[in-house]
Amino acid sequence: MTKVISRLYSRSENRRKIISINIILIILLVSITGCSDTKSDEKETIRIGVSVYDSRDTFITQLMDEFNSYADPDVTVVTYNAGQNMKEQNNQMQDMIDGGCDVICINLVDRTEPEQIIDLALSYDVPVIFFNRELTQEDLQRSDKFYYVGSDAMESGIMQGELAAADILDEGTNIDTNNDGMIQYVMLQGEAGHQDAIVRSEYSVETLIDSKIQLDRVGLAIANFNRTQAQSKIEQLINSDAQIELILANNDDMALGAIDAYLNVYGENAKLEMPAIYGIDGTIGGLEAIKMEYMRGTVYNDKEGQAHAMYDLAIALATGRSLDDLGIEDGHYIRLPHTKITLDNVNEYLYQ
Ligand code: GAL
Repeated sequence: MTKVISRLYSRSENRRKIISINIILIILLVSITGCSDTKSDEKETIRIGVSVYDSRDTFITQLMDEFNSYADPDVTVVTYNAGQNMKEQNNQMQDMIDGGCDVICINLVDRTEPEQIIDLALSYDVPVIFFNRELTQEDLQRSDKFYYVGSDAMESGIMQGELAAADILDEGTNIDTNNDGMIQYVMLQGEAGHQDAIVRSEYSVETLIDSKIQLDRVGLAIANFNRTQAQSKIEQLINSDAQIELILANNDDMALGAIDAYLNVYGENAKLEMPAIYGIDGTIGGLEAIKMEYMRGTVYNDKEGQAHAMYDLAIALATGRSLDDLGIEDGHYIRLPHTKITLDNVNEYLYQ
């Protein structure tokens, strides 16, 4: 090809021109063959882009710490914090594409507003692993390169209900302190509209009812998975003289906020005044609270399992390796199972 082009120039033409055109063509040919012949397996550096909805979220931070320490040293992981701003996350998606990310992991700010992320992924043909904040099945099915990694919210709600039911049935008036045959309880709920908040609340209560426990709800507070917000909601209830025998929190951070409220209001008598408190996640703080017997139980939301599943899937997608052994269900989903944690087994998780 280079020879043909060379012949177009008469001898009288500037030889330097011919030489430089030949060089350009050779470089072009090398780079074209380089692209088409290279198997994705042999790609030199893999680049994974991650955008988290809020880097102040304890569970997400611990999940990402695990993701980063599990990642191979020669893989580049670029992490963005969307700071709870969907527009910002859309811009970050464009940045990650422009930056040449092979795979993008998205922890959606708003699980009902993934349109721009999806449109960008489709137009640039980039695989996306959504995690922790689950988009609708319809949205996820818009590409066979879209995946979701997380857990089964219903399972965590049921397990929390089982933990509380077992203690109530076992301890009677120890928890039903006013001995009225009913359990006065408060639900500390995560973000409105978050699948884990809605489903966990529903199934935790339903499981207690199925266990023939009479419930009397004295408070329902949305505290956005946030420790400080939960503390102030529970302090308000304590100060309004609400009788509280049980607190069910959609996550450990809110359970810890409830504990902070009792510590703040009752000081050194706090433990005597504290109701039975249950969380979900098994964050480091949550596990420590169980060890100190402030919290009776939590449900382990397997951040290690989720981080590893995300990473392994990202690498397989970037290299073109088989996805067969990754536990993908219905072509799109990887869900890690939960486990119950109490004082009996907390050490296995705290010191793993
Ligand atoms: C939940 C987790 C919460 C919070 C939330 C953020 O699964 O239990 O602690 O991290 O995700 O989406």
